[in-house]
Amino acid sequence: MSLPQHIPQVHAASSSNQFSTESYFQTQRPPTGLDEKVNRVTAFSDKWRQVGKKVVLVTSGGTTVPLESNTVRFLDNFSAGTRGATSAEYFLKAGYAVIFLHRLHSLRPFSRHYSHSLNPFLDLLTITESTSPDGQPSVTVDKKYTATLIPILQAYHTARAQGTLLSIDFQTVNEYLWLLRAIAKPMSTLGRKGMFYLAAAVSDFFLPDDKVAEHKIQSNKGTLSLEMDQVPKVLRPLVQEWNPEGYIVSFKLETDQALLIPKSRAALSRYGHQLVIGNDLHKRKYEVVFVERKQQPIGGILAPRKGKGDQRLLGAETPPVAEIELDGEKMFKPVEEYSEKWLRLADVPRDGREGEIEIEEVIIQELVDRHEKWIAAAQ
Ligand code: PMT
Repeated sequence: MSLPQHIPQVHAASSSNQFSTESYFQTQRPPTGLDEKVNRVTAFSDKWRQVGKKVVLVTSGGTTVPLESNTVRFLDNFSAGTRGATSAEYFLKAGYAVIFLHRLHSLRPFSRHYSHSLNPFLDLLTITESTSPDGQPSVTVDKKYTATLIPILQAYHTARAQGTLLSIDFQTVNEYLWLLRAIAKPMSTLGRKGMFYLAAAVSDFFLPDDKVAEHKIQSNKGTLSLEMDQVPKVLRPLVQEWNPEGYIVSFKLETDQALLIPKSRAALSRYGHQLVIGNDLHKRKYEVVFVERKQQPIGGILAPRKGKGDQRLLGAETPPVAEIELDGEKMFKPVEEYSEKWLRLADVPRDGREGEIEIEEVIIQELVDRHEKWIAAAQ
């Protein structure tokens, strides 16, 4: 029996790697333009820190995984960036300065209301023939759309005039990881006034630099088999090293609703951050669940110091601890109890309001409160 001769493989199955966060950043090339983006974030954070404003980093959209360095093909995921773009608007409304770290060409605050599929912009406009001597027709917004457009336009102009929205884009998972790490540093000067709202759908798998085909993979060779390596979870270093004072909110996406709460609890326990917002893929636009510890430890978790046998205490309080094994390491952590709060659009009182209510409005109201308490707890 003859075997296929030329199956293109991006890399051999036997050579897969386990990347720690450290080894990832030691081996993977930083994206071009990183410094310029980080400088913009630094200037933005400094400006708002000086006036005591709260700053939130909203991550948004999917990440791509290129299959070739001269990229023709890439793997992607479903996220359009609706959660992130919508949330950014409500954070601005709640008085935050917003760093919007988004996937290139995904939805953006304000313009999201008029994307090419939803309310196409050209449909709003009409041409009015000129009555003036120059004979030039003018373009106006059709009257039936102005009532909806005006508040959106006003909020957009306010954010522009005040400089409260900074947009930074990424495309690949590698760009996302480098940016997140680099941005966490200038944001750490904000202390507890900084919030991380990690709504991006980050790929769990990638092709390391040394295993990516340089040129377009040829299609005339049969099948294409890929073996990808695991992207290290960056939540742990974010919480424990890069920005230990920030209020950190991660999202947990599942397609099996029964997994939402156990997986969200596991993430809290594993990474030691403040809040996980669980969402089911199919119900995410009208239902989410907040999962958090019943007592927020003022500090965090007790863990072995990297590479050394001793332990360190992150934070001031020492709640009762339990010894557990995590990723092969012995860890000490608080015995935790959790609470869950479901937010459902169906339960939101309308109070005479007309029109659609978005779940992100409800999420951000809840978060502002919790973030205030987080800030106050340190004082
Ligand atoms: O954009 P939309 O269409 O509106 O969809 C919104 C959303 C469903 C994408 C969003 O609400 C959401 O759930 N985002 C997180 C999806 C996700 O990546 O879940 P996860 O279970 O794979 O990861 C959990 C958390 O770990 C995430 O907050 C992520 O930031 C973080 N993570 C992920 C990968 C990685 N290598 N390191 C990480 O720290």
